[in-house]
Amino acid sequence: MIERLQAIEKIAKEKLQASVTGAELEAWRVDFLGKKGELSSALRAMGSLPAEERPKIGQVVNTIRTTLEEAFESYKTKLETQWQKAKEESEKVDITLSPRLPFLGTMHPLQRVIRRIEDIFIGFGFTVERGPHVETDHFNFEMLNLPKDHPARDMQDTFYFHEEMLMRTHTSPMQARTMQQRAPHVPLRILVPGRVYRRDDDDATHSHEFTQIEGLVVDYGISMSDLKGVLLTFAKELFGEQQEIRLRPSFFPFTEPSAEMDVRCIYCGGEGCSTCKHTGWIEILGCGMVHPSVLTMNGYTDGDVTGFAFGMGVERIAMLLYGITDIRQFYTNDVRLLQQFIAVAR
Ligand code: DAH
Repeated sequence: MIERLQAIEKIAKEKLQASVTGAELEAWRVDFLGKKGELSSALRAMGSLPAEERPKIGQVVNTIRTTLEEAFESYKTKLETQWQKAKEESEKVDITLSPRLPFLGTMHPLQRVIRRIEDIFIGFGFTVERGPHVETDHFNFEMLNLPKDHPARDMQDTFYFHEEMLMRTHTSPMQARTMQQRAPHVPLRILVPGRVYRRDDDDATHSHEFTQIEGLVVDYGISMSDLKGVLLTFAKELFGEQQEIRLRPSFFPFTEPSAEMDVRCIYCGGEGCSTCKHTGWIEILGCGMVHPSVLTMNGYTDGDVTGFAFGMGVERIAMLLYGITDIRQFYTNDVRLLQQFIAVAR
């Protein structure tokens, strides 16, 4: 009997050391210390022993039970400390690590430039308007003094659906549309940003789809000096207080007189570089006094009402502002281009 008990003690100690999980520990406790466990059944078996042996065996059983209970408690405590440590280790957070931010998109450089320019003209009292991209020949050309056989139509190679329907080649049709809506009321001060379309072969400086911003002011007594003052203030707001401009005579069928506006090269300050092709100036927009026939055709028949208009290419300005050298980069959706603008405030 004693030997059997000692064998149980030995096996119990070995098995205890082999238990690593909470479930194994519990199973061990049931097997050796439980009511139906090994020691209890040994005690029950004592009934068949001679009476004089019983107290001795009973004492041995109790000693073994106490030893095993203590072994169990201390082993359990040891395991629990290990579990706690492992848990802390796995949940450890290094608060000194810089965070990994989720990838954020950012405003497209073209949209960025449009918003800046809109802000400037809103400050001058303009409202922002938008027009249809699918346009009629009537508004895109006729109402802007470009009749069907006019040679200036060749300057804007056009995507036609049919003779009367086309993709707008410029934002200028919104001049005619807005005048027809509002005439004879004045003042009219609108800014029209939007996509335009031309049958161009794409290369580093040409795209068959690009973006323009049109401006139009109609009021009593508007003169060329209003045009110049507004555009100079605009250039200073966009490029900086020191910015100079110049107006060169040009031709557009819907303005008379017409001009092109240059800004002093924003890279070399006028000394001459490859960006300004060593002229010291960069052309950024076309402008002029609204042609009297455009005014009358679109409803402003009072001879004292005059106006000025301008139109600029947004890609060109964005390329200048951000040093982008290929216009196709605006449309190829390379996320690396956008990522460079995350840190740019405006
Ligand atoms: N619509 C012209 C173009 O696309 C640009 C332009 C020139 C617009 C002079 C104007 C203007 O309003 O006055 O080439």
